[in-house]
Amino acid sequence: METTQPILKLNNVEVKYLEVILVLKGVSLEIPEGGIIALLGANGAGKSTTLKAISGLLKVEVGEVTDGAIEFKGERIHRKTAMEISKMGIIQVIEGRKVFEHLTVEENLKVGAHLRKTGSTKEGLEMVYHYFPRLKQKRSEIAGYVSGGEQQMTVIGRALMAQPKLMLLDEPSMGLAPLLIKEIFEIIIKLNHKEKIPILLVEQNVKLALTVAPYAYVLENGRLVMHDTSEKLKQNPDIRDFYLGLSDLGERKSFRQVKHYKRRKRWLT
Ligand SMILES: Nc1ncnc2c1ncn2[C@@H]1O[C@H](COP(=O)(O)OP(=O)(O)OP(=O)(O)O)[C@@H](O)[C@H]1O
Ligand SMILES: [Mg+2]
Repeated sequence: METTQPILKLNNVEVKYLEVILVLKGVSLEIPEGGIIALLGANGAGKSTTLKAISGLLKVEVGEVTDGAIEFKGERIHRKTAMEISKMGIIQVIEGRKVFEHLTVEENLKVGAHLRKTGSTKEGLEMVYHYFPRLKQKRSEIAGYVSGGEQQMTVIGRALMAQPKLMLLDEPSMGLAPLLIKEIFEIIIKLNHKEKIPILLVEQNVKLALTVAPYAYVLENGRLVMHDTSEKLKQNPDIRDFYLGLSDLGERKSFRQVKHYKRRKRWLT
């Protein structure tokens, strides 16, 4: 991969909830400066837990990094609080597009502004509206009543207001119509390319994630089972079968076949 120092490094990270529930079992991954990487895996694999371990939000859920280390720009961060970590510029967009429902779209965006180090709130809003013209149109509407796609844009916009040095995105495509997903992902790619924001993307939409991110990691039951360039992963038989639902001939497998495979796979792990 890249030869420059990674901006984020997880080294053998173990996470437990409530001191006993072992969820991450030695996860190591790297995000290169300015890069996008994807973290893939089935329900309950530990994707959100990985993001929360990085952002420090784990502590809110009585979870803890019990082994290994997380380094951001060479500095160990896994003992820091969520507030300290967000001040360093690591911003997580949590799963389920949590807007402040009773505030307007613009008020939601302004919430992200308190973490800004330079530039005014007004400049921040201009930048967000530049990338998300839809939000400009909806800025005075109550966030609880705008569409799901616009709520997802609002939470990403709110993260952008904080001038992130690293953005952690948890399933931005969840529950959205294909056209909206396309619109949002085009913007995510632009944010990475033009604003040079490094992104760790968690997705269950594997096909989409492998298109957006050039490199990906696959989690299963709290362990990394594979990592490679997206080009290689797209050709990998397990990925094709299990995550893309494609047989060797490139045909879509029936749901029953894939489900059978999943069941078999669970027995094997
Ligand atoms: N606060 C918590 N306390 C105890 N166990 C938890 C907690 N949060 C998550 N878990 C458990 O940790 C495991 C990983 O959960 P996590 O939310 O990280 O998975 P995920 O890969 O994000 O799944 P999904 O695709 O459903 O969002 C699951 O078995 C889950 O039940
Ligand atoms: Mg999750």
